[in-house]
Amino acid sequence: MKKAIILILVSSLILFAGGNYIQAEAQTEITIAVGEVGAEYETVVAAAENYMADNPDIAIEVIDSPEASEERLGYFLTYFEQESSDIDIYQIDVIWPGILQEHLVDLNQYGAEQELEGHFDFIVENNTTPEGELIAMPWFIDAGMLYYRQDLLDKYELEVPKTWSELEEKARIIMEGEQEENPDFVGYVWQGAPYEGLTTNILEWFASNDGGNFVSSERDVTILNDNNLYMLEKVIDWIGDITPVAVTGFIEEDSRAVWHEGNAAFMRNWPYAYGLTEESEAIEDFGVTSIPAGPEGESASALGGWHLGVSQYSDNIAEAADFVFYLASEEIQKMRAIEASLPPTIEKLYEDEEIKEKNPLFEEFSDIFAQAVPRPSVQTAPYYEAVSEAVFSEVHLALTGERDALTALENIELELEEIMEWE
Ligand code: GLC
Repeated sequence: MKKAIILILVSSLILFAGGNYIQAEAQTEITIAVGEVGAEYETVVAAAENYMADNPDIAIEVIDSPEASEERLGYFLTYFEQESSDIDIYQIDVIWPGILQEHLVDLNQYGAEQELEGHFDFIVENNTTPEGELIAMPWFIDAGMLYYRQDLLDKYELEVPKTWSELEEKARIIMEGEQEENPDFVGYVWQGAPYEGLTTNILEWFASNDGGNFVSSERDVTILNDNNLYMLEKVIDWIGDITPVAVTGFIEEDSRAVWHEGNAAFMRNWPYAYGLTEESEAIEDFGVTSIPAGPEGESASALGGWHLGVSQYSDNIAEAADFVFYLASEEIQKMRAIEASLPPTIEKLYEDEEIKEKNPLFEEFSDIFAQAVPRPSVQTAPYYEAVSEAVFSEVHLALTGERDALTALENIELELEEIMEWE
């Protein structure tokens, strides 16, 4: 794993000043572990450099962490379980507060309250424990969206799809046309590997057909119903048709690679892919729209996003919290919205002219961000990870032909009911 030490420690640096040698102030070292998808890592390094220029007594080390959410969680848990002070700040998935709260400090004790003004309430609530502790500072929102090739819709005289059936039909028309010249061309790519990202795709299929989000807020298991069966059977039919079989091994960046090469008509992904798509030489014109609707429901985007928590085992909690507030500030959220198309958690930034100019997606999507469907992490805490694994594992078996759709849903229902009985 790449490890970037962005400042060589100068704690023993000797400065020459006015004929005297002065020992520079000892530095406090802060280590932050973040993600590396798209351009996100680089923006943290840039922000850390700015912060250090203003705070010469702080040295910040930015390390990356595994790409897939649950692998990152496993990696972080090894530090938490050893009560390690090696990492001070962790990038926390929106679904983790219930899992990690015992290891993270209450940022309200370090002045978060005054920093929270203007952040979306629903994220603040998501990151607040029932006891009122803020265990992660809101940093960026994610919501699933449909990317489409405007140039190809124009070529085949098609409109942007609004339903899954329209998507299917249009993907097939474009794919069959393009394959005459380009045998690698496919209709629709998404995330089908057995991991957390598949859970978010499944949530969108089911919620957009009014099939619920697996476990209701009253903690009832709702996954086994006709609407979900309809959607799962539909998705199984896509594989080997509009969707290549390889999707069952894809995470976000795999689908983006196919799309970026100009080899897919449609892609489901998060906002980070927007700015990167603008750099693609193979794509003349593209757009983003909401996730299609099923026959019984309305478009539903899965709520994602990442926030910043400070470890209880850090030796420098106050300093780490201060850097967290800087990273979550309007200035840095704006920079990240522009440079990495990461959606802010500060509401008014959706009105910011510079952001809208660089990323028109923010103008169209602020409502979608604010209304995205959460995974059932609050009602299943602290067992959300097991819930998600039950969902994605069984569905993955259905996608690869080892289960029929009904058996997969029945198995998930049984597993979730069992998990909901755990103490
Ligand atoms: C994105 C989302 C995150 C989700 C992950 C799944 O990073 O922001 O919430 O868990 O994708 O792959």
